[in-house]
Amino acid sequence: MIGRAKITVIGAGNVGATCAHWAASKELGDIVLLDIIEGMPQGKALDLRQAGPVERYDSAIIGTNDYKDTADSDVIIITSGLARKPGMSRDDLLVKNVEIVRGVTEQAARYSPNAILIVVSNPLDAMVYTAWKASGFPTHRVMGQAGVLDTARYRAFIAMELGCSIEDITALLLGGHGDDMVPLPSYTSVAGIPVTHLIPKDRLDAIVERTRKGGGEIVSLLKTGSAYYAPAAASVQMAEAIIKDKKRILPVAAYCDKEYGIGGYFVGVPAVLGKNGVEKVLEVPLSPEEKAAFQVSIDHVKELVAEVEKLGK
Ligand code: LAC
Repeated sequence: MIGRAKITVIGAGNVGATCAHWAASKELGDIVLLDIIEGMPQGKALDLRQAGPVERYDSAIIGTNDYKDTADSDVIIITSGLARKPGMSRDDLLVKNVEIVRGVTEQAARYSPNAILIVVSNPLDAMVYTAWKASGFPTHRVMGQAGVLDTARYRAFIAMELGCSIEDITALLLGGHGDDMVPLPSYTSVAGIPVTHLIPKDRLDAIVERTRKGGGEIVSLLKTGSAYYAPAAASVQMAEAIIKDKKRILPVAAYCDKEYGIGGYFVGVPAVLGKNGVEKVLEVPLSPEEKAAFQVSIDHVKELVAEVEKLGK
């Protein structure tokens, strides 16, 4: 690509504004920050722009309330919607957020018919489905951010346990972005050493459990909303893989039909991300226990999508 990529971030709350921040600091392209609240995206964008000379990025960053300004975006990150409060599950957000995500996607897709959508709103797997339907885009250009965040939490906890660098930990996680997500110790290694050789089973089980509830742990600490630094960093890593056509293999909520026998749902799986969006879903062998846990998560995603379908009628 000659010229700069155009990245639109819809929703200028904590997650959206932090996405703009990470994207600018990586100089991924020019950034449009959109929100319905007047002045707020404009103010945050101007503030970020003024950080450019200090942090040395040339990204143009504008804030707007008008979808016209998002026209011809390459990547659109959708963060709109309510966040959870303590005691709520992500699923409790479904009814309100379906309406919000449907509305913003329809408008954004109209102005950027060739964009790639990265959905971050919750309940994630159902919101990706909602955005897919509302956009009319082919499945490879619609995906959800969850697995990058969830594996980042898992990798952070492993590094904390071992006192080693996060750089040396690679890991895989499958399933929906709910407490039944499936971190996979069998596909987790530390500088090539299987993690199961380094951390005893009971400690590893505790790390897996903490990962599954990782979003809730932060909600209960913050009390007024949910996590945003790591969710935004994860979303921007996906955008980077697409914009730079890196062919990174990342766990993302991708459309799976025959893959893993899922049958037409967006579920967290390892996928190759490049300029065409989700370029390939990788299928890996699973033990009977892993398969069973993955199935529980898939069934949960199907229930959420059924709720979305009911609301659409
Ligand atoms: C989390 C929310 C953003 O996992 O889903 O923190």
